[in-house]
Amino acid sequence: MKIFMDTANVEEIARFVDWGVVYGVTTNPSLIAKTGRTQAEVIPEIAALVEGPVSAEVISTDCENMVKEAHELVKIASNIVVKIPCIAEGLKAVKILAAEGIKTNVTLVFSMSQALLAARAGATYVSPFIGRLDDIGEDGCQLVKNIVNAFELYGIETEVIAASVRNLEHVDKVMLTGCSIATIPTKVLESMILHPLTDKGLATFLADFEKSKK
Ligand code: E4P
Repeated sequence: MKIFMDTANVEEIARFVDWGVVYGVTTNPSLIAKTGRTQAEVIPEIAALVEGPVSAEVISTDCENMVKEAHELVKIASNIVVKIPCIAEGLKAVKILAAEGIKTNVTLVFSMSQALLAARAGATYVSPFIGRLDDIGEDGCQLVKNIVNAFELYGIETEVIAASVRNLEHVDKVMLTGCSIATIPTKVLESMILHPLTDKGLATFLADFEKSKK
């Protein structure tokens, strides 16, 4: 499972790129707003930091303007993926962009049927939202698993990005679904490295090393 960062904060991304664990990045208008900067400012910086795909979202809701926005976004860098909402106009835009060889990430996916439509329209990626489904009492990780299994069953090449990941349990569960990508927010990524037994074990090793010097 590849790790993408689910943030638009350039400093945070740079920190985890140094760990060697970040392949791609996903952003959305809410994440961009949190930075206090504009999409035009942050996306080129993010695209220069990571080798893999960087999803930048359109804000138009009609096909024609989504395609126009997409054309502008892909000029920024070769690793830009255009994030398109899972609505009918979005599917039309995905179809046009796919024919032009432009990669898309269909976002706000909450059902298997939405995922199938996005894939058949030509999406490179689909992003089912785990946390937001859990918020309404559904099982987001189960949806990811179902989409991954169905895509495998039918030989669909669209990759699944597990999105709206909120905690370590989500990461652990998604790892067992065969999902090829999880996009993880900074706080969850930070907590993935931590284990009290690692700290305790390291303290013991260092203390024993000091003793062995005497
Ligand atoms: C990523 O593609 C999504 O925009 C993001 O994971 C949504 O996460 P949230 O539900 O925590 O806002």
